[in-house]
Amino acid sequence: MKIAVLPGDGIGPEVTAQALRVLEALSLPGLTLFEGDVGAVAYRRHGHPLPPETLEMARAADAVLFGAVGDFSCDDLPRHLRPEQAILGLRAELTLFANLRPAAGFPGLEDLSPLKPEIARGIDLLVVRELNGDVYFGDKGERDSAGGREGWDAMSYNEAEVRRIAHTAFRAAQKRRKKLTSVDKANVLETSRIWRETVIEIAAEYPDVELEHMYVDNAAMQMCRSPGQFDTIVTGNLFGDILSDQASAVVGSIGLLASASLGERQTEFGTFGLYEPIHGSAPDIAGQGKANPVAAVLSLAMLLRHSLGREEEANRVERAVAQVLASETRGGDLGGTASTSEIGDAIVSTLLTIS
Ligand code: NAD
Ligand code: IPM
Ligand code: MN
Repeated sequence: MKIAVLPGDGIGPEVTAQALRVLEALSLPGLTLFEGDVGAVAYRRHGHPLPPETLEMARAADAVLFGAVGDFSCDDLPRHLRPEQAILGLRAELTLFANLRPAAGFPGLEDLSPLKPEIARGIDLLVVRELNGDVYFGDKGERDSAGGREGWDAMSYNEAEVRRIAHTAFRAAQKRRKKLTSVDKANVLETSRIWRETVIEIAAEYPDVELEHMYVDNAAMQMCRSPGQFDTIVTGNLFGDILSDQASAVVGSIGLLASASLGERQTEFGTFGLYEPIHGSAPDIAGQGKANPVAAVLSLAMLLRHSLGREEEANRVERAVAQVLASETRGGDLGGTASTSEIGDAIVSTLLTIS
């Protein structure tokens, strides 16, 4: 079992280090780790945010454990050299079109949500975010206009792209509470009209799943008003990015939410995938031991489950995290005082008590 570890920038290395301690504590036989440079750190060392050797390392692995990328020092670089291109490049080059972002409340954290505890308690949803298309990957550029320089980004989805993510989402909903909310902006966007019609076409193959459609502006409002109504959400790249950050706040902190980015490639042990927190490099707290490593540790749990076929270990890690959060070992993002490594210590020692 080969894992490519790409810690990246800012708090990426800090939180990834804790996930690796948890992995080590599991003592899995036959595991080899490779570490590569991505993001601003890779740009500084190799002149590119996603050096070819890093991409090859990721391709050759059974799974990729990714930290975060992004650094203000790169703000003025041309787009193709910016750190964010590393994660976009990995998602595109490895055809990781399905991004699973689960958001469920943790017992003991209800009072930390900005929502009323009884509303926060009900949250248990999965955002299935399309990851290879939309305005992220359309033609873009700058041109002259009567109003001065004009930036433009083309938004599009074709039926094939919508069909494959819709299948992923319906199958995920079948394993959950069998309700799928497709989020779009079909009242305004042609992209969304094709999206909605295609999701409806695929729904015929999943009669056991209840499908509803919701405009993204309403979905953002409902995510605050009553997040418990959502089971599985399927949406495009941009809307999924925004709604999942919002869902994290409802749960209590962006430092808690993990993600799996999957495609169709199967390995000997499961589905090839890239695993990363939904948060970024958090330059405001980087290097201070203030980052919550839970999102990275839960990303490792998703890696164990989806790419290594280690459901039992994945469950153990998730239970250890839940116990630690309930025990009030929490960082500043959750009103506590524990440092990144103290949270890691607590997760590792709790893990060793769970068989
Ligand atoms: P961010 O997610 O990095 O941070 C947003 C806020 O949440 C900050 O106040 C930060 O301190 C806090 N935060 C984030 N993760 C935390 C954690 N684990 N524990 C405690 N607090 C945490 O988003 P941003 O500030 O908008 O972006 C910063 C950089 O990260 C940018 O360069 C952006 O492009 C990049 N980014 C990268 C990824 C990725 O690598 N996949 C994701 C999002 C943003
Ligand atoms: C995320 C991030 C990325 C995205 C950026 C860094 C390109 O916000 O992983 O959620 O927009 O997908
Ligand atoms: Mn994001």
